[in-house]
Amino acid sequence: MKAHFVHLSVVSTLLGVALGAAIPNNDGFPAPSDQQKLGIAVQAGGLLPNSPPPTSLGAGSATAFQLIAFNELFETAYFSSLVHNISAGVDGYRAENKDELVKIFSTVLAQEEQHALAAVSTLKGAGVFAPSPCQYQFPVSNLKDAVNLAETFTAVVLGALQGANVLFAKDGATAPIQTVSSVIGQEGEQNGFYRVFLDKVPSESPFLTAVPAPFAWSALQMFVIPGSCPFPLGNINLPIFPPLMTNGAAVAAIEPRDQDLSFAADLSASGVAKEYIGRDGSSLFLTYTTGQQLPISVPLKHVSWSGSKISFSAEFPFSKHVMQGFSHAALTTKNSFESADAVAEAALAGPGIIQVNNAL
Ligand SMILES: *[C@@H]1O[C@H](CO)[C@@H](O)[C@H](O)[C@H]1NC(C)=O
Repeated sequence: MKAHFVHLSVVSTLLGVALGAAIPNNDGFPAPSDQQKLGIAVQAGGLLPNSPPPTSLGAGSATAFQLIAFNELFETAYFSSLVHNISAGVDGYRAENKDELVKIFSTVLAQEEQHALAAVSTLKGAGVFAPSPCQYQFPVSNLKDAVNLAETFTAVVLGALQGANVLFAKDGATAPIQTVSSVIGQEGEQNGFYRVFLDKVPSESPFLTAVPAPFAWSALQMFVIPGSCPFPLGNINLPIFPPLMTNGAAVAAIEPRDQDLSFAADLSASGVAKEYIGRDGSSLFLTYTTGQQLPISVPLKHVSWSGSKISFSAEFPFSKHVMQGFSHAALTTKNSFESADAVAEAALAGPGIIQVNNAL
């Protein structure tokens, strides 16, 4: 361990950049010089992809890369804040294995920076809109909650990257499939560690839950300070759904058993929801997506309205569908779907994010 830090400090002196884990955000990101890029690569354990980037992108592929870039920019802010909190010993972030955690999360930070740089340069190389960083809010104030949230948003990303590969395939863009698949494995390694840290079985489930791009995009909005992005959100061609609170929270952590969950959403911003507001909810459904199962729809129970705010409960059919780990839910106008993606086309609100704990 010691030798490694000596080695890093020698490299950092040679490069003239700060690789010291205690000094995040000193690496020029999001616009590093070539020398700073090398510093990030050393911290991340590898270089950026260097095969020639595509000179054009189909519309679906461009949207997929924009979502990826937007997400990775958020993640760099999150892990930068986390590294800062742990290294500075902020209240709630003091850990006995501080040096080890700082090393791990500084590495993750640099890896996320590279994911963001790669996505942004792909977009720029293809001459399409590339997002730049917004300002973010993180609804956590201690280490365990922070790792728990990282595990959840990484699960959302792991679901969305599946769909990105489908979009690339539809556009006949094979090179990004290879690169993004390399990132899927990488994010899975991160989540295995987060799960061990959280005393969960490291490998969550056999087939990770698919997340349609509009749901990933909508979920990300909870971390963005409204109005803080230096570009109109409409530059990224995805809908933003009203959030669907589950058991009163943005992320519901629940026991592994059949149970009813409570849901709430404010549909005032949704044009398509207008015709359902104040009605009995019999033409609405709660639709779960879990693993690689076709979406599962159940009827709403105990529907009540306060203006355009709907509250209801719905069965969570855990045992029948073996819903260990991450699933998501949407309020939908249909109850039969041929793909996870189709849910987004009939959604009024979502995603409700659900985590079932497979504790050690
Ligand atoms: C870092 O600590 C601050 C202060 O407690 C907190 O607001 C922020 O959410 C923390 N960041 C992370 C990523 O945990």
